[in-house]
Amino acid sequence: TGGLITLDPGYKNTGSCESAITFLNGEEGILRYRGYAIEELADNASFLEVAYLLIFGELPTQQQLDKLYADIKRESNVDEEMKKILDGFPKSAHPMGVLSSLTSALIAFNPSAVNVDSEEDMYNAIIKLLAKFPVLVAWTLRKRQGQPLDYGDSSLGYVENILKMMFKKPSENYEVDPVVASALNKLLILHADHEQNCSTSTVRIVGSSHAGLFASISAGISALWGPLHGGANQAVIEMLEGIKQDGGDTKKYMKKAKDKNDPFRLMGFGHRVYKNFDPRAKIIKKSADEVLGKLGVQDPVLDIAKGLEKEALEDSYFVDRKLYPNVDFYSGIIYRALGIPTEMFTVMFALGRLPGWIAQWREMRLKKEPIGRPRQVYTGENLRSFKPMSNR
Ligand code: SDX
Repeated sequence: TGGLITLDPGYKNTGSCESAITFLNGEEGILRYRGYAIEELADNASFLEVAYLLIFGELPTQQQLDKLYADIKRESNVDEEMKKILDGFPKSAHPMGVLSSLTSALIAFNPSAVNVDSEEDMYNAIIKLLAKFPVLVAWTLRKRQGQPLDYGDSSLGYVENILKMMFKKPSENYEVDPVVASALNKLLILHADHEQNCSTSTVRIVGSSHAGLFASISAGISALWGPLHGGANQAVIEMLEGIKQDGGDTKKYMKKAKDKNDPFRLMGFGHRVYKNFDPRAKIIKKSADEVLGKLGVQDPVLDIAKGLEKEALEDSYFVDRKLYPNVDFYSGIIYRALGIPTEMFTVMFALGRLPGWIAQWREMRLKKEPIGRPRQVYTGENLRSFKPMSNR
């Protein structure tokens, strides 16, 4: 049943925390949001339902979901002045850096969302972020593509509107492809929360100083950007493309991954917690076949990915170290089939993780947790006297 893990009483000083949001069992490959299995949520829920579940603790009634989306639509405008900040970036700027900056800049245009102590103020700040963040995500893509910015269409659903804001060309009508919308909905759910990972811990510790929700999320975006964390989905595709360009010789790259003198790592493999299959990777792998089949997309890197996975699962180096594919190994293949450029993959991870970050920030603030202050084991010099320059 994946028994709950209890923390020893000393945990308060280790930077760990208690949380009722997401349960992971790395040995058994179990992931649950508020007690619901990720497999069931991925197949049956909408991303906005899962956002409500993570943030408020229960699956919403239709009335609660309708109110949430009505509140979001009312806040979906982003101040025109924010475009001047976006214009300040070169087209070549990495979208994660742009997104982190724009999210932080929201503070200046939404001052009421900074000092939030009451549940009502927190709710209002959360709605503003759920409303404006997808617009900023779309802006980062359109900036790179030299496309005019789009505010979307409130007659569409939450995920469908994101697709329209990202992909509608000025001179064309844009019809949301239900296959694409369903695939993105599932990917966003699979990325929505993951307990105390690097970026979520960043959001909680920045939030614990009462820096406010937008500043905390901006910090989380920066943490997620790293190639060992959310940046891995972009690194996986770049790795697979490199192997393809190099003739598709997966055995050569398996050897490199095991060579201590070679910095090459099999991106999308391994995990701090999962020492079994990442349940999300299983779902995404299955979805990749379905989505590419329905869209009629042939992507040779999918076969290379499957070849690498097969070899790794039969290789003692990986088996002994319990290195399995993680959420990032196959996700980029679907994003690419949906028409999302590689440099936007980690932005899509951030879009999915937003409700989890919000939920964890809200939990920490409602519990009035003290400012985060992890302790250390000091390994430096003992006391010593000052040395004048002449003696150094
Ligand atoms: C995410 O925490 C979360 O929940 C994160 C996340 C989320 O949803 O928020 O799940 C999202 O970040 C997934 C991980 C994405 N990152 C990658 O795919 C990058 C590649 N993976 C690795 O860098 C690594 O596996 C980590 C960073 C994910 C985990 O690092 P660990 O647990 O600290 O593992 P380690 O570095 O201590 O390695 C243990 C051994 C080492 O060999 P030895 O020293 O024992 O001989 O395993 C080897 C490592 O060299 N190893 C790898 C490897 N990952 C670990 N060898 C080759 N390829 C790899 N990918």
